[in-house]
Amino acid sequence: MTLRIAINGYGRIGRCLLRALHESPLRREISVVAINEPADLESMAYLTRFDSTHGRFSGAVAIRGERLCIDEEEIEVFHERRPEGVDWRRLDLDLLVEASGRYAHRHELEAFLAAGCPRLLLSQPGHSAADVDRTVVQGMNQDSLVGRERLVSAASCTTNAIVPVLAILDREFGIEHALMTTLHSVMNDQPLIDGYHHDDLRRTRSAMQSMIPVATGLARGVARLLPALEDRVAAKAIRVPVSNVSAIDLVTTLSRRASAIEINARLRGEAEAGYPGLLACTDEPHASIDFNHSLQSAIVDTGLTQMSGERLANLFIWFDNEWGFANRMLELAAFWGRRLPGR
Ligand SMILES: NC(=O)c1ccc[n+]([C@@H]2O[C@H](COP(=O)([O-])OP(=O)(O)OC[C@H]3O[C@@H](n4cnc5c(N)ncnc54)[C@H](OP(=O)(O)O)[C@@H]3O)[C@@H](O)[C@H]2O)c1
Repeated sequence: MTLRIAINGYGRIGRCLLRALHESPLRREISVVAINEPADLESMAYLTRFDSTHGRFSGAVAIRGERLCIDEEEIEVFHERRPEGVDWRRLDLDLLVEASGRYAHRHELEAFLAAGCPRLLLSQPGHSAADVDRTVVQGMNQDSLVGRERLVSAASCTTNAIVPVLAILDREFGIEHALMTTLHSVMNDQPLIDGYHHDDLRRTRSAMQSMIPVATGLARGVARLLPALEDRVAAKAIRVPVSNVSAIDLVTTLSRRASAIEINARLRGEAEAGYPGLLACTDEPHASIDFNHSLQSAIVDTGLTQMSGERLANLFIWFDNEWGFANRMLELAAFWGRRLPGR
């Protein structure tokens, strides 16, 4: 039985979800039946066909009445900004993928449930851990889903990238403390040139002209998945003027002595054995654009692993913040779907 999903917010992640599904074997398992997005249908169809980052869409895109047609599949489209603006009940959904990024508190998310959505999968962390029923990072804790949850968060792209690496390092070497600096590509919450765009003053500055430090909840996100590391990890984030692909520079003190060769060997072994399709290692001399459209949650650049002394380690981890994360959300939707009662 196909999993019937709808997408709320058809921006970067919303469109990547639809495009990634089109390229994935999961298209036999998941069907997008509705999209809610404030923009007009013509613009939505246009930005489905053409994407400056991920290229032309390989399927046929058309508009029929108030529907977006992808090949022969018709998707109902709504343009509401309020959860109760859409009659979700009528759509007979299995789940709504919330990708507008506008709802992180339980009472806001429950407005979708009250309006007829059976369950929500969020493209961001809940404001607090208690704002959702479960926060899931693929490869780490998806087995904790029992099928009765109604609000599940797929965490963030950065959490998906760093948690498997930290889990391996902690198990193999012990992590005493860790500092993470995310170098994140620009996002739609930044202006192209300086403008009154955001109440965070740094985010009023031109996205394409500066490296811009921004607040990040990554340390909290890590602690939700790896509670043993709570109060031992800290993070900062810098938006950098590239349109896609991000990286994390990780500095960590290890409990035992290690070498870069040993760390890389453990990560390579684990990537293949424990996290197939999610974690990879590369020893080629890459630049960020090489990872555009890559599927993994994280790719460790083993050539950049280094030690200062015998216990202070520094690692560099690439990830496609859009494509990798969109694929994780689809996999999580499918996984959750298989656990729903009656399936
Ligand atoms: N981009 C990434 O790399 C990335 C990766 C992982 C997770 N995420 C998370 O995913 C979420 C979306 O990010 P994004 O980059 O896709 O943002 P985006 O490109 O700005 O897309 C969000 C879309 O949702 C629409 N929207 C706003 N309010 C809405 C509402 N009330 N109901 C329905 N749609 C609404 C927006 O329209 P308007 O612009 O007209 O308001 C916009 O088209 C955020 O929480 C973000 O943190 C993003």
